[in-house]
Amino acid sequence: MAQGSIEVYESEGRTFPPSDEFAAAALADDRSLYDQADADYEAFWASQARDLLSWSKDFTSVLQWDLPFAKWFEDGELNVSENCLDRHVAAGLGDKVAFHWEGEPGDTRTISYSELLAEVERFANVMKGLGLSKGDRIAIYMPMIPELPIAMLACTRIGVAHSVIFGGFSPDAITDRCEDAEARLIITADAGYRRGEPSALKPNVDAALTAGAPSVENVIVVDRCGTDPAMVEGRDHWWHDLMANAEPSCPPEPMGAEQLLYLLYTSGTTAKPKGIMHTTGGYLTQVAFTHKYVFDLKPETDVYWCAADIGWVTGHSYIVYGPLTNGCTSVMYEGTPDTPRPNERSGDRASWNKDRLWDIVERYGVTQLYTAPTAIRTFMKWGDEWPARRDLSSLRVLGTVGEPINPEAWMWYHDNIGGNSCPIVDTWWQTETGGHMITPLPGVTTTKPGTATTPIPGVYAEVVDDHGNPVEVGGGYLTITRPWPSMLRGIWGDPQRYLDTYWAAYEGRYFAGDGARVDEDGYIWLLGRVDDVMNVSGHRISTAEVESALVDHPAVAEAAVVGATDDITGQAIVGYVILIGSVEASEELREEVRQHVGTKLGPTARPKAVFLVPDLPKTRSGKIMRRLLRDVADGRDLGDTTTLADPDVVAAIREGAAESDEE
Ligand code: WTA
Repeated sequence: MAQGSIEVYESEGRTFPPSDEFAAAALADDRSLYDQADADYEAFWASQARDLLSWSKDFTSVLQWDLPFAKWFEDGELNVSENCLDRHVAAGLGDKVAFHWEGEPGDTRTISYSELLAEVERFANVMKGLGLSKGDRIAIYMPMIPELPIAMLACTRIGVAHSVIFGGFSPDAITDRCEDAEARLIITADAGYRRGEPSALKPNVDAALTAGAPSVENVIVVDRCGTDPAMVEGRDHWWHDLMANAEPSCPPEPMGAEQLLYLLYTSGTTAKPKGIMHTTGGYLTQVAFTHKYVFDLKPETDVYWCAADIGWVTGHSYIVYGPLTNGCTSVMYEGTPDTPRPNERSGDRASWNKDRLWDIVERYGVTQLYTAPTAIRTFMKWGDEWPARRDLSSLRVLGTVGEPINPEAWMWYHDNIGGNSCPIVDTWWQTETGGHMITPLPGVTTTKPGTATTPIPGVYAEVVDDHGNPVEVGGGYLTITRPWPSMLRGIWGDPQRYLDTYWAAYEGRYFAGDGARVDEDGYIWLLGRVDDVMNVSGHRISTAEVESALVDHPAVAEAAVVGATDDITGQAIVGYVILIGSVEASEELREEVRQHVGTKLGPTARPKAVFLVPDLPKTRSGKIMRRLLRDVADGRDLGDTTTLADPDVVAAIREGAAESDEE
């Protein structure tokens, strides 16, 4: 491919050369990393694994590839928490700040590497004291507070795999995930601060455990907000009580490179989420490599900030494991980008501070900022004056992730946040890939607004047509052609689903589920999901999952869900619902059905609009015609759902169905 062949990219009369705008590129100003990888990609990853990580036992085997099952560095041994903590402390960096943590109400904690290590050792002993050991699985359901990475790292110290459940998820999601993984422990908090108020977590855990998940023996609760939740005698324990009584020292246990590190559940095309499996050595190698090169890391001076939530893979790889392995200083923030003014509490959201992020960038001197297109579009809507209030000149590199970024938002980010002088890395990857796959490297790759550009060194991607033939220039499906170190090792408990979902569509290739286009320069433009997965604010939600939550409501007979185009969130969830015959339609019922999804799946999956319809358009074989429903939704203002069984919508659906019948 034509990597690096373009000297300058022009857009709207402006140029984006690779290094003028980034004169200080300390990185390879050449293509040496790509050349090394292309010469022998296994040797390349082996040398990265040895350079970036400390191994208690070196590996002799680099890759065992029994398509589609990979083992990387299999006979090597290492411990993740040792790589993230002990070795930095041993190197004299104990006083270095690991996290500048900021709570939403404005409280702060500065945590050095040695403090983090001490807490991790203690908490590992707490888990041992509860009888947990290598091979066990536990769940974590927490707000963005320091105890969250502490809990994760403590797991890695003793070989327990964690399954972090996003704090916005509902009790049902906790039950399902704990049952699937047979989790023995849940670590949670009473609540976390969100939009000026405590948002309860512990009561959701109680509800989840009332509904099921009998494998859970213990619950550990951090007292974040002082909301005094109910505690079940014998099952529930306060974090601070257990920590006060724990032994301080817990040596890291060496783990085989293929030891299960974590499960992270993600939406697929069915209602049942998939437990994506990540292991130790290969995962840590690729997240450390990408964190270093994609963000052009200067660990001595950088203050790096990934403004994601650890409940998603972005937070796992680029708040916890990548940055700590590289010994860098990070910012971690609990709340939302707009927050109530002091003393105002929730109030009228329009009057809130909308420069919270920029205030944090200024105060800590943030050098790299990594966020999502939805956030960038929201900032655009709020207006240029908010970032203009703050000095953002410390920023050197900007990142984006989670969904395709439109060139307009890219330009706004570049100009208003990056001061016209920061390279933007548009990073394409997935929960399944573990780490970055397609992204520019600052100082190396010429960027173009709106494209993730080309695969990183050591990763090989191709866009293929319906028959699996590579597309030279044009559109098709994104596939990965060779194994990579941080690839998923499977779906927990369901190897067949792993084969069917990722490896069956195109022989010998990993199918990502994304549509993509290759341009004349070999650059890859991501076009969004081609399966029945929606992407709302960068969060993956399956249509099937929302449909099953809709039909779970007693008044609903049938439901179809589509992702409609949305200016801010990329896609918005729209549900079409047929009520059971005996039920009278009403505005209240429609809202109740909509809220029911929020209760079942959590607020992120609550449809923006629900339409009550008498019928759904179907093909003769009974398949719901989602494309038609999407068109109908795209043609409407989703705020306007005031009329019941809306005649326009119904007419459009009927017409469309009739047309297709005639075809
Ligand atoms: C989408 C998030 C375009 C894509 C790290 C992918 C993107 C899904 C980009 C994975 C990007 C992620 N450009 N689309 N830079 N990054 N996506 O598992 O559809 O939450 O398949 O991982 O997000 O979402 P996931």
